Amino acid sequence: MKNIAGKTVLLTGASGGIGAFIARTLAQEGATVVGVSRSQSGLEKISAEINATGGKAISIPFDITKLAELPTLVEKINQIAGEVDIVINNAAIEKFRPFQNYTSEDIQSILTLNLHAPMELTRLLLPSMLERNIGHIVNISSGAGKKAAPFNSIYSASKAGLIAWSEAIRQELANTNIGVSVICPGCTNAGMFLALDMPAPSGVRIAEPTEVADVVIESIQQNRKEVILDSFAVKVFYALSQLSPEWGDSMIKKAGVIETNHNCAQKQMQAEYLIRN
Ligand SMILES: NC(=O)c1ccc[n+]([C@@H]2O[C@H](COP(=O)([O-])OP(=O)(O)OC[C@H]3O[C@@H](n4cnc5c(N)ncnc54)[C@H](OP(=O)(O)O)[C@@H]3O)[C@@H](O)[C@H]2O)c1
Repeated sequence: MKNIAGKTVLLTGASGGIGAFIARTLAQEGATVVGVSRSQSGLEKISAEINATGGKAISIPFDITKLAELPTLVEKINQIAGEVDIVINNAAIEKFRPFQNYTSEDIQSILTLNLHAPMELTRLLLPSMLERNIGHIVNISSGAGKKAAPFNSIYSASKAGLIAWSEAIRQELANTNIGVSVICPGCTNAGMFLALDMPAPSGVRIAEPTEVADVVIESIQQNRKEVILDSFAVKVFYALSQLSPEWGDSMIKKAGVIETNHNCAQKQMQAEYLIRN
């Protein structure tokens, strides 16, 4: 889709973190940004900022894990902003745990927000895109979808799932004017990475959230299939890990990821224990 100006974009997770940067950049390109997340105040802050600087933004507070209510959300967006031309599935959560310490509810909530909700929203929006023969689907995955992160297994599974699903529908839609892009950021100086307050693995570059936003725009304009937002060395690491998972695991260990993520899981479990007691 060469021109984003005048298009209606549904952006989930627009209330903060990387989503806020994507919202600003989309508005600068002339899109109408329909921001969806749970926090009304967070969404309104971004919308007010965009509207005050001549952009167009609409806030719809909504918990997208309420899958059965998503048709109502889509109807509401259609009434307020018209048909959706671009959907950006950005909202996600992560939770660090040794796998056996996840509850069934943890697994369900992570997979629902990170994987099922993007699928369901896209399933609801795609018929209108096909009818008009215009549209773009952007799925924000993660480097953890390329090489799974120990002690962050459910998040990793959700992000790998997003990559596989994107790849499948991209091929299904190849003869249409509807593009599918999957973006895999590495550590980014915003949102969930900052909230973790843990060091990046050795040798890993920390990207700025503006870089993710720029890549999202470029992916829509140039119909890029998959973008790994990381150094060439990390891209080679992902490729070689496919050929030798043993080598990939040993590199992850060498970079200190197992220890760092284990500490992160312990810290999160202790914090939750203190809240509960
Ligand atoms: N930051 C990084 O280093 C990094 C690296 C790789 C990939 N990513 C990916 O980039 C994307 C954005 O991450 P981020 O770092 O910006 O995370 P973040 O700061 O935690 O933001 C997550 C967003 O999702 C929204 N959200 C959470 N639960 C929701 C729900 N039930 N319904 C609707 N919205 C919900 C949050 O808003 P509310 O709380 O208001 O609902 C928030 O706007 C994610 O897909 C993440 O996996 C991030």
